[in-house]
Amino acid sequence: MPDYALLADQMKALVQDEPHFLPSLSNASALLYESLPDLNWAGFYLSITGKDELLLGPFQGKTACIRIPYGKGVCGTSAAQDKVQRVPDVHLFPGHIACDSASASEIVIPLHNTRGEVIGVLDIDSPVKNRFSEEDEAGLTAFARVLEQFCHLTRI
Ligand code: SME
Repeated sequence: MPDYALLADQMKALVQDEPHFLPSLSNASALLYESLPDLNWAGFYLSITGKDELLLGPFQGKTACIRIPYGKGVCGTSAAQDKVQRVPDVHLFPGHIACDSASASEIVIPLHNTRGEVIGVLDIDSPVKNRFSEEDEAGLTAFARVLEQFCHLTRI
């Protein structure tokens, strides 16, 4: 089990003096990818185009699809419902978007701006089925709260 409190502290140290979300989300994806075992993708989709869609943001892993409409796939569902999606087997999720055929399970956490509106999602994929536990969900949700607190997540 990763030390999520330590991970949140490491993230705080990386973001607290840097208001722009671009370097902070880039470092966040690198930190998650190198700290958590059994991942094949970790990164962000952002709701910054002014349309009901998510745009590919900073990430680690294989090249990924660029735009995801709200309501589509795991990420679009999480953004549209403002709800964490913890998917033990992506092949059983209706409309799952397979960017990397190695992905077997996935967790997606919505991110909010200071008004509480969804401004994007944190998306993490694993080649292992049922990779993400309730503890992972709690730890990653706390990690997302650090990003919300310190990054200026706004439309650009
Ligand atoms: N699987 C996601 C698409 C993004 S990739 O996993 C990087 C989805 O269904 O929304």
